[in-house]
Amino acid sequence: MKDFIPHVLLASLLCIGYSSCKNTPNHQYTFTKTMVEDSAMVVTAHPIATQIGLDVLRDGGNAIDAAIAVQFALAACYPVAGNIGGGGFMVYRDARGESITLDFREKAPAAADADMYLDENGNAVSERSQAGELAAGVPGSVDGMAQAYARYSQLKNWKRLIQPSIEIARNGFHLTERQANLMNEKRVDFDQNNRAETVFNNQQEYSEGYMLVQSDLAKTLEAIRDQGRNGFYTGWVADKIVAQMKDGNGIISKQDLLDYQSVWRVPITTDYRGYEIISMPPPSSGGIALTQLLEIIEPYDIRKLGHHSTASIHLIAEAERRVYADRATHLGDSDYYNVPLEMLMDPDYIKERMSNFDPNQASISDSIKAGQAKESLQTTHFSIVDIEGNTVSLTTTINGAYGAKTVVQGAGFLLNNEMDDFSAKPGVPNMFGLIGAEANKVEPGKRMLSSMTPTIVLKDGKTIMSLGSPGGSTIITSVFQVIVNIIDHGMSATEAVASPRFHHQWKPDKIRFEEEGFDQSLVDSLSAMGHTVEQKGKIGKVECIYYNTEGMIEGAADIRADDTVMGF
Ligand code: DON
Repeated sequence: MKDFIPHVLLASLLCIGYSSCKNTPNHQYTFTKTMVEDSAMVVTAHPIATQIGLDVLRDGGNAIDAAIAVQFALAACYPVAGNIGGGGFMVYRDARGESITLDFREKAPAAADADMYLDENGNAVSERSQAGELAAGVPGSVDGMAQAYARYSQLKNWKRLIQPSIEIARNGFHLTERQANLMNEKRVDFDQNNRAETVFNNQQEYSEGYMLVQSDLAKTLEAIRDQGRNGFYTGWVADKIVAQMKDGNGIISKQDLLDYQSVWRVPITTDYRGYEIISMPPPSSGGIALTQLLEIIEPYDIRKLGHHSTASIHLIAEAERRVYADRATHLGDSDYYNVPLEMLMDPDYIKERMSNFDPNQASISDSIKAGQAKESLQTTHFSIVDIEGNTVSLTTTINGAYGAKTVVQGAGFLLNNEMDDFSAKPGVPNMFGLIGAEANKVEPGKRMLSSMTPTIVLKDGKTIMSLGSPGGSTIITSVFQVIVNIIDHGMSATEAVASPRFHHQWKPDKIRFEEEGFDQSLVDSLSAMGHTVEQKGKIGKVECIYYNTEGMIEGAADIRADDTVMGF
């Protein structure tokens, strides 16, 4: 097992660069979903990125070095969510036991204002916050990786970390079947949101095995390789970004790019049944909401209630209803808004929130209409543990699938549509059906509220889990369910990640179940208690690393897509 390298994957990696591989029939990757090893582990959304992270660890890099290489690799081999044009959050715990978080979330440009997505009648226009240049926040990923490198790199070889992504972009990589299908599905969006052809819409139809070459992206990555942060936020790449803004309806300026700074923040921590949970503070809602959910269910014997029993799903749905109502009102960027952190996590407050919980009857979220998630949901999470025990949990995003669907011409990367995570107007739902108000209104330089929940869990002071997920509003509840599956239901990480998921977010007032994995009788029993129920699609895509009870490292890649784990 120790030197296991999936042969098909190796063949595909070796194939990079040979044009004869274009449209290779039956081209296949190996998507490894579970692995138990003793030293190090990488779990990402794409086998190429996982391999690149593993190579860095084998070359003596630490978890941060591997994370930087993976972040850039995903920008090339997983363009639906991997990015240099977006942002993210990292929770990090080093082998000595110090924990910290890095906030490299996008920021609203200086010219942004609270009414920028309203029409002349004061109605929110979601197209403006969801696609095209105006949807983009000032990107944070490159600065974030540069800061992580400066503080924690062991390899001290930035070029070595960026080079693999350049090779993927310059020489190309084979699309997986899922990637080809999604690009075909989004073709209309690419046509609508770009004035020139892009590599994402220059074919009639993409098929599995198609070699996607991104020459412009390769040049941008080379600038980052050679000049670090400045290669992106200044010079010709910055010029291209600003030119793209001016040609379209965007407002990001040279000064915005120059001014961008990611921030090291103190994590949110809480105790759950003797485990310490370490997660992301604002501008993510993830850490607070996860804390609230765990605190609400802690007094109950969840194991006894039963995994996916009517009683446990009802309890959790009612907890989620209350937590997401708090999210809508109280949470935003704490650099701009006074988030009542202590109140929200205070045990008495939480007890009070559940005082009207009826174990037999659903409560009713009041009647404001909220929208449906209509995006194909894409963000991406990866978890890495190195040989020393340094642990990374990192979630990164351009928001919707392919972000703003707009490629910066000549620089080859996709703009994010993260501005849609602000509340465009109080009570008007964003693309995830989430509503917000004052706390999360658009303000110049402010970061939009996020649900991304990269999390590390400790037991007796030792790291035992690193996990996170994409999925917009469902991220928090996906991470929550995997933690509960492991701690309360005694599942392995692989079982916990594969287990079907459900979700309630206050508004819309319904429990959404994954399409597969829940008995009709269970869904009917919740409906009989007064819950509106819906069975649709998949929820979240969790990557998890777990030190199991034998002290071995178990890596679990979600079975829901192309996610892959490798370790040694
Ligand atoms: O930060 C957030 O909460 C969202 N921008 C995340 C978007 C997302 O997870 C999309 N897809 N899965």
